[in-house]
Amino acid sequence: MTRVFSGVKPTGHLTLGNYLGAMRRWAAVDQHQSDALFCVVDLHALTVDHDPARVCRLSRQSATLLLASGLDPRLCTVFVQSHVDEHARLSYVLECVATDGEMRRMIQYKEKSVREQRRGGSVRLSLLTYPVLMAADILAYGADEVPVGDDQAQHVELTRDLAVRFNQRYGHTFVVPRATHPAVGARVMNLQDPLSKMGKSDDAGPGIVYLLDEPDVVRKKIMRAVTDSGREVVYDREARPGVANLLEILAACSGGNPEALGGVYESYGALKRDTAEAVIEVLRPVRERHKELCADPGFVEEVLRDGAERARGMARPTVDAAYRAIGLLPAG
Ligand code: TYM
Repeated sequence: MTRVFSGVKPTGHLTLGNYLGAMRRWAAVDQHQSDALFCVVDLHALTVDHDPARVCRLSRQSATLLLASGLDPRLCTVFVQSHVDEHARLSYVLECVATDGEMRRMIQYKEKSVREQRRGGSVRLSLLTYPVLMAADILAYGADEVPVGDDQAQHVELTRDLAVRFNQRYGHTFVVPRATHPAVGARVMNLQDPLSKMGKSDDAGPGIVYLLDEPDVVRKKIMRAVTDSGREVVYDREARPGVANLLEILAACSGGNPEALGGVYESYGALKRDTAEAVIEVLRPVRERHKELCADPGFVEEVLRDGAERARGMARPTVDAAYRAIGLLPAG
């Protein structure tokens, strides 16, 4: 059976981008067709200036939202990264096959390190080594597939390179994984700045739809989305990024095709209205399940405890094998 691994980082409230780019498929497809693990990757949230209490709160909230989005602990494993030591253990070993140059070429490192410096902060070493920890997350479980949005493609490519290099140098140890992306919705853009990704760690604003936004808030944000001065509704990512983003969101939520939908609308207003209603319908069950889960916090805790236990059992043999292969003396 195909093994699938993916994760979300608790650095902000989860967004429509997270949902359409990744989470929705995890619940609708991956957990049914594969042996799947989904992780709240809290260690990754410590790579930029952070508030400890907030990260802790967001970890619990993200786990709750994974379940609210339809993940069923009877079908897949849901857990928190820091509850399973194997991630950090393997990350160190992979640091011994990765190079400094490779890390510095990562687009997200370049963008985030500039942002940290602009904010007057210093760049944490863990931000540079972030992709190695991500590779460890994936390789520890022998994942064949990593369902993610477009922005994670480079990190998964690096994971493949590290797996191949390790296997060549020290003997076959890791499965070489591949990224999978949704046909539509792999890169949802900010409604106020359609040239930038809708990112949960960005400053809260009207350009981001959060999974728990009330219908009225969703409607307001989408009705105020930036379009352009044209009138015709056509799908053109280069020339009309704002309209293209709305068409993609509508297509992702209604099952249509963004190009075909472009021909259906005569005004931006009508497109925005239908997009807002489609998003509200897609998010409705998530909000409802989230409310139920919040009333039963013991359930989420139990899921995470069981999930960590299962995850440890899966990761340990691979990480032990990597330790032996690279030359570390077994503990006896
Ligand atoms: P994170 O937490 O930024 O995002 C979680 C998932 O949501 C996708 N995503 C988007 N998709 C479409 N449009 C958007 N605007 C958008 N924003 C986010 C992301 O591509 C991702 O699939 N480094 C990862 C977390 C991670 C991970 C892993 C993922 C750590 N270890 C191992 C997979 C496997 C991240 O920061 O995702």
